[in-house]
Amino acid sequence: MRADFFIRRLQTFGPAIVLALAISAVRAEQAFPLSQLDLSKVQQGWGDPHANQSVEGHALSIGGQTFTNGLGTHAYSELLVNVDGNAEKFTAQVGVDDEVGAGRGNAQFEVLGDGRLLWRSAVLHGGDAPQSADVSLGGIKQLTLIVSSGSNNIDYAHADWANAEINMRAGAPEAVSPPQEPAVILTPQPSPEPRINGTRIFGVRPGTPFLFTIPATGDRPMTFGADHLPKGLRLDSQTGRITGELKKAKTFIVTLHAKNALGEAQEQFKIVCGPQIGLTPAMGWNSWNCFASAVTEEDIKAAADAMVKSGLINHGWTYINIDDFWEVNPHRADDPTLQGPQRDAEGRILPNPRFPDMPGLTAYVHGQGLKIGLYSSPGPWTCGGCVASFDHELLDAQRYAQWGFDYLKYDWCSYKPELESHRGHSAEFVKQLGGWSGSTPTDRAQLMRPYAIMHAALEKQPRDILFSLCQYGMGDVWKWGAQVGGNSWRTTGDIRDTWSSMSANGFGEAGEGKYAGPGHFNDPDMLVVGYVGWGPSLHPTRLTPNEQYTHISLWCLLASPLLIGCDMTKLDPFTLSLLSNDEVLAVDQDPLAQQASRVADDGTQQVWAKDMEDGSKAVGLFNLSRSDVKVVAQWSELGLTGRQRVRDLWRQKDLGEFSDRFETTVPPHGVVLVRMWPVK
Ligand code: GLA
Repeated sequence: MRADFFIRRLQTFGPAIVLALAISAVRAEQAFPLSQLDLSKVQQGWGDPHANQSVEGHALSIGGQTFTNGLGTHAYSELLVNVDGNAEKFTAQVGVDDEVGAGRGNAQFEVLGDGRLLWRSAVLHGGDAPQSADVSLGGIKQLTLIVSSGSNNIDYAHADWANAEINMRAGAPEAVSPPQEPAVILTPQPSPEPRINGTRIFGVRPGTPFLFTIPATGDRPMTFGADHLPKGLRLDSQTGRITGELKKAKTFIVTLHAKNALGEAQEQFKIVCGPQIGLTPAMGWNSWNCFASAVTEEDIKAAADAMVKSGLINHGWTYINIDDFWEVNPHRADDPTLQGPQRDAEGRILPNPRFPDMPGLTAYVHGQGLKIGLYSSPGPWTCGGCVASFDHELLDAQRYAQWGFDYLKYDWCSYKPELESHRGHSAEFVKQLGGWSGSTPTDRAQLMRPYAIMHAALEKQPRDILFSLCQYGMGDVWKWGAQVGGNSWRTTGDIRDTWSSMSANGFGEAGEGKYAGPGHFNDPDMLVVGYVGWGPSLHPTRLTPNEQYTHISLWCLLASPLLIGCDMTKLDPFTLSLLSNDEVLAVDQDPLAQQASRVADDGTQQVWAKDMEDGSKAVGLFNLSRSDVKVVAQWSELGLTGRQRVRDLWRQKDLGEFSDRFETTVPPHGVVLVRMWPVK
């Protein structure tokens, strides 16, 4: 009876109950403003994320429209939000904040669901009207909100996710940190038998001191030999150092030997005596990404010691470079170690008290078989406000050469074209400048001028000084950096140890490869692996292990200068393994000096490839998403036909032969780096 009664009641009221449940479900759907999530989880290229304000702390404003709610960030920016399959949709009005001014900055907004691209905005600029995003999230577990710069320059990319909301059917969205990964060492231990590593081609100008240390791994004691060494050069068979001087421009083919109790290795080595130096990208260390303004002479000596003691010298690492803050800094009166006379009576630059003996320091570094570099700016002040080279270029170049320096990083900062009309009597004008902010002209001749002046001064020196341009990519420097004698030129703003910064700098190099070649390279900035921190306090890199593999692989494919940015005295085994894989480093140091091109890009996976001198190809299969994906390198995209032998370079293992494509699963933000040889 009772059951019958219930069934009848259900037949009568059933539809009404279903309706009521549906209404309550609709009511349960709730909109969560993005600004209420834990924004400390946002990774971004510059500044801090702000709730309901722009990155600079102003009211959110896009194309003249203001918004009271939203997230103000800066490209490259990334936020992971767990929605556990309960989200309905994501909505926002996006654009570049009006605080940057009309026409400035580029920002491209992307919404990813479980690693797949769901929505992408146009590349937006300051002053553009906001673009609406209305993205359905049915079934998605994790949402990723990305702002890239749409180019490799993140300047002024102040990005607003205005009125951004996630609509949930149940539960609440949660901002999360990127997952933790174990640091798995892939590089095999170097073999005890001799192996000659590093560059196979070396440029030197006639009449300059020659120094090349044969980089070789294998058990010690080891002895070295060199067949057909040209007259004027000599080899120390115990240290493997080749020194001397070549008088005339000519190319020499030498055979290098390295021998120990277990065997002997030999390699061809081409010495090109002529106008061009730095034929393959510089490999070394620079003080900025660890010590920044805290750098001292002791740090430089310790880095040189560690380069030798760690064995990295045996893999081709050569330069020990002092960045900013070896000079006197009148803007930092609080710090006595930065004070003193700026120049001597003849106008020659003087180091600050932290660097009491420059010739002694260069001799120390050269004595280890290494080379040494330093830093200046074409304006009156460096980026840190130290004394720089404006109106003293020739004197400074002479001084660097006399001291024994081998590398100059020349950083735009306080330079302005207006300075040029004050040469010879610049002191008054410089005083009027007050601070040390430079300007960013668009005129190419104005951009080239200060670099051409310093290059001419360096050319006059009886010493080879590698010339590294730093001006963050202004005026498409890659199109003319070689014309002003640049051995490399920074294409981007300063790198940081975040995925957003590193990936924007590295992947942003697409399209610039045709401007690189032997002796002149694009430079997406220094490496951020190991203990970094811009001094004095340091921390382990915030890049995940896979991101670090991506960093090194990409920089090698790009034939970028490789300048280690970490504290060399704190090299852990994982970092060391990243910096000592000879098959990977050979991609960077290949004599063809080709920069890889991006041959495939679907938003979450990219394939980059470059030709190697021996007819093989180096190919990087990259995963830019947060989950494992299968990445495919198609022969049609690589310009290959026929069977290829494929070798995994990090693991140094052959993977087999493949006939029209190579595909593999790549971990989140990771890479598989391979080399392919045609099967004869
Ligand atoms: C600029 C450069 C950095 C570093 C500092 C030094 O920011 O881009 O690499 O040299 O100046 O002040």
